[in-house]
Amino acid sequence: MKKLRVAFIGVGSISGIYLDNLTQVFRDVEIAGVCDLIPERANNAKEKYNLPRVYENMFEAFEDPSVDIILNLTRPHQHFEVTRLALEHGKHVYTEKPLGITMEEGDALVKLAKERGLLIAGAPDTFLGAGLQSCRKYIDAGMIGDPVGAAAFMICRGHETWHPDPDFYYQPGGGPMLDMGPYYITALVSLLGPVSRLVSASKRTFNKRLITSQPHAGTEVDVNTDTYIAGTMQFASGAIGTIFTTFDVYYPTQARFEIYGSEGTMILPDPNYFGGPIQIFRPETGKFDELPLLFDYQENSRGLGLADMAAAIQSGRDVRAGMEQIHHVLEILTGFEQSARAGGWLDLKTPYHRPQQMQKAALKGVLD
Ligand SMILES: NC(=O)c1ccc[n+]([C@@H]2O[C@H](COP(=O)([O-])OP(=O)(O)OC[C@H]3O[C@@H](n4cnc5c(N)ncnc54)[C@H](O)[C@@H]3O)[C@@H](O)[C@H]2O)c1
Repeated sequence: MKKLRVAFIGVGSISGIYLDNLTQVFRDVEIAGVCDLIPERANNAKEKYNLPRVYENMFEAFEDPSVDIILNLTRPHQHFEVTRLALEHGKHVYTEKPLGITMEEGDALVKLAKERGLLIAGAPDTFLGAGLQSCRKYIDAGMIGDPVGAAAFMICRGHETWHPDPDFYYQPGGGPMLDMGPYYITALVSLLGPVSRLVSASKRTFNKRLITSQPHAGTEVDVNTDTYIAGTMQFASGAIGTIFTTFDVYYPTQARFEIYGSEGTMILPDPNYFGGPIQIFRPETGKFDELPLLFDYQENSRGLGLADMAAAIQSGRDVRAGMEQIHHVLEILTGFEQSARAGGWLDLKTPYHRPQQMQKAALKGVLD
């Protein structure tokens, strides 16, 4: 089968794991070239991974006839423009999360892709990993009965201690819900199905943040987005989900991520990762027991969603981390902001169907 060719737009912090996995793990794709506003970053990647070319700018990548998919690894507020231009040049796009930073952006991109007969897919793809795919299999098999509710708490004190350019996390389009919410919400909808309505409250605890990571250590950043967001979601199934995400609070580990069923409770793995552990509580045992992982991809497999997209384009099946999912997730994420501002419940309008379960492939790095 022909390998689909991918061009990187953005070679910043997250690009390394994509470069590793697309050159070493996934066999349905190959890298056509890379591009960054900071040419040194693209040149370093070309040298380290022995890549065919560096594009001078994103338009050169969009105009390369050998490129099938544009990989958008820019910052969230840049996603819309890069994805829009790539679609206008006739390319499929796989974007880092989120799809855009407002629902208007998301709606416009989905409309454009449909008009052009192109696909957008996007991160996170951790829900395709061994951990969350095994949870899905166990929940669908009835191991906790009918899902009643879920709780997801993402607690940390922000990214300014480690990210080299952390200011964007505190600007519109950043914040803990748009940044970390995608992992939790994608996991929840892929397990429980669509959300029909939501309500939320949010606040900004600190107006300034001090960067302590290099190279900007000592710089203060103005905070222009809320950093403590608590939301309640009603799923179409009737289950009720509670989520809060914050950059304001100290917590040493992954906090709560649980699904409650009529016959048991499941503690899910951290949805920022691909592996386990999964724990289940059933009344017969009266304690939590660990469940085995049933699928491939336990280690950091970023790029899995892109490889799945490439295989789907070849075979004509639906993309797992597809446009309907990233659009529905964006509506939930931005819906929390909207509900917190306006007060009251917000009814959601985007459709959502859970993607196909992963299949165990004969060969690692090859998707069905
Ligand atoms: N850093 C992480 O740990 C992490 C983890 C998961 C997901 N993400 C997501 O990945 C995306 C990128 O994050 P990051 O941390 O790598 O950011 P970053 O700032 O480190 O990298 C972004 C890169 O994009 C480049 N860029 C922007 N516009 C461009 C354009 N028009 N043409 C060419 N290059 C362009 C920038 O020069 C920069 O090098 C974000 O959506 C983020 O949410 C990041």
